[in-house]
Formats: sequence, C-alpha cells, structure tokens
Amino acid sequence: MTAGPSAVEVRSSEIDGQGVFAKRAFRSGEAILEIDDSRVVDDLHPLTADDLARHCDYLAGAKVVLMPSPERHINHSCDPNTFVRTVAGIRLVTALREIAAHEEITYDYCINGSGDTVWACRCGAFRCRHEIHSDFFHLPVELQREYLPLLDTWFREERAAEVARLQNL
Ligand SMILES: C[S@@+](CC[C@H](N)C(=O)[O-])C[C@H]1O[C@@H](n2cnc3c(N)ncnc32)[C@H](O)[C@@H]1O
Ligand SMILES: [Zn+2]
Repeated sequence: MTAGPSAVEVRSSEIDGQGVFAKRAFRSGEAILEIDDSRVVDDLHPLTADDLARHCDYLAGAKVVLMPSPERHINHSCDPNTFVRTVAGIRLVTALREIAAHEEITYDYCINGSGDTVWACRCGAFRCRHEIHSDFFHLPVELQREYLPLLDTWFREERAAEVARLQNL
C-alpha cells in the first residue's frame, strides 16, 4: 500500500522545472508512490515527439522505461529524502526520513545509477556534489558505503562483484 499520487502534487521547483511535493507529512520508511514501469522504450516502442528523454529511467538488463506523472517529475538531490526499492516487483518511492508537508520529494539519481553521463547539480543541498557522474561506483567511497543499504535488489544482482568489493572494504 502506498500513499499514492493524491498525497503529492507537481509544481514548480527551485531545483529544476517541475518537482513533486508532499501534500502531507510522511513517516520514515513510508511508501509514498509506486513507479509505473509499464511504458517500455525500445526499438519497437520508441519515444514520440511529445516524450522527453529526461523522463526515462534505466533499469535491470538495460531496460528503459518512460515514467508517467507524477513520478517523472521527481528531482535529484545530493541529500535526498527518499529512495527507490522494489517490493513484489513494484518500485516504491520510500521515505528515507520523516518528510514534512510541502517538502519537495527527491532521490539521489546515482543510487542504482549506471552509465557515464556527467551533469551539473543544482539541488542546493549543503552536501551537493555539484558535478554528478551517473554511475553509483563513481561516488566517493564513503558515500557508496552510506548508500549501500539503499541499493535496489536488481542493482545488487547486476553489479554483484562491485557490491561485494564494497562490502569487503
Ligand atoms: C526525471 S526529470 C525530473 C523532473 C524535471 N524537473 C521536469 O520538470 O521534467 C530529470 C531531469 O530533471 C533535471 N534535474 C533533476 N534534478 C536536478 C538537479 N538536482 N540539478 C539539475 N537538474 C536536475 C535534469 O534535467 C534531469 O535530466
Ligand atoms: Zn546536488
């Protein structure tokens, strides 16, 4: 059971464009939203002219999905208040700590992240890393260790050797 889309709203964000905001407080560990991964993007089902690549997410086995609203509007923060974990095959945006009503919902895009995209972060957090490399294992090692419990099951399986090396440090 998640709080669901009625517990959040999409509006302008100081981080970037549109963001997702809490309409009520959430407890740490509470499932806020399900991510709908049903719109797969592949050669047979490419993005249309109305779709934006930035609303895509990159999953196990190089699967690409185009997220719908509201989850497509969740911005990145280097000090996130949620993370994504898969339960019974459904990805859940889950509160990492208590979240107050009206707070922007964010997660760290590098958790479960791969690839070699480098981009400039404007999250405004005290601990902002400013220049972000998309791959989890490019994070500073202390942060990899901090985030280790938050890695999703599929990512642990896909990057098992690197996860094991991190666990043994
Ligand atoms: C899934 S969308 C998030 C929603 C986006 N704000 C919108 O209005 O469509 C991801 C895109 O938002 C932007 N973005 C998200 N978090 C950001 C951040 N902390 N700093 C800079 N840009 C960010 C980047 O352009 C990124 O490719
Ligand atoms: Zn940042």
